[in-house]
Amino acid sequence: MTSGNNSEISASTLVIIPTYNERENLPKIVGRLQAALPATHILIVDDGSPDGTGTIADELAAADAQDRINVMHRTEKNGLGAAYIAGFRWGLARDYAVLVEMDADGSHAPEQLHRLLDKVATGADLAVGSRYVPGGTVVNWPKRREWLSRGGNLYSRLALGVGVKDITGGYRAYRRAALEGLDLDAVESHGYCFQVDLAWRLIKGGASVVEVPITFTEREIGESKMSGDIVREALLKVTAWGMRNRLDKLRGKA
Ligand code: GDD
Ligand code: MN
Repeated sequence: MTSGNNSEISASTLVIIPTYNERENLPKIVGRLQAALPATHILIVDDGSPDGTGTIADELAAADAQDRINVMHRTEKNGLGAAYIAGFRWGLARDYAVLVEMDADGSHAPEQLHRLLDKVATGADLAVGSRYVPGGTVVNWPKRREWLSRGGNLYSRLALGVGVKDITGGYRAYRRAALEGLDLDAVESHGYCFQVDLAWRLIKGGASVVEVPITFTEREIGESKMSGDIVREALLKVTAWGMRNRLDKLRGKA
């Protein structure tokens, strides 16, 4: 199914970058990505950022002589999950072999993307960039935020009974066929639990989900969009998925 050839993989790779108020970060991340992997295509999914990020995205696209940058303008801030689903649909309607999730704020190093692509090239359906496997690190995160992330991951692992250590992580590469096999209409996670949702759907479907170490560096410019609502949605949804899974297992045994 895969060529196993990295330059081919990178030529048919779409990196989806969701943005909300990232006007200073966006040109930097795009520049770094193009320097690291010039052949990749980029889709910026902007939710009508009041700070004008959408206009900057259009300027970046217009300035790219090789037409590798595309912009999707959405009118409302509808959450990370909805932005990515729209981006996946756009990519699946074209012939990309690999679809990547990457934050705009510099937390995910484009220089490490090859690690994820290598895993997909050698058979993984989903490669998750992981802060919590050996070799993975977090730089400059406030302790409070790190414990929220570690706690969220631990809770998800216990509730769902999965082994992925950074199941909330948002630096990922999906094999096209893995996304095609999902019912994206059924995904209703708005916030960051979208990450858990997709990994969980793939694991349940028997897909191969692997982790690769990354260095996650906290943003220097702008603000995180993490909120109490996002945490509450994650807690409720992960608990519900875990309970349903246990019930299904009990029924299966009965
Ligand atoms: N289009 C769009 N719409 N983009 C959004 C939205 C939205 O509603 N909310 C956030 N984003 C974009 C941001 O502009 C940024 O590019 C990226 O999504 C990540 O948002 P941050 O707000 O910087 O996330 P974080 O650093 O707090 O959280 C990171 O860690 C989480 C926990 O591991 C991300 O990697 C999350 O994906 C991850 O779940
Ligand atoms: Mn961030």
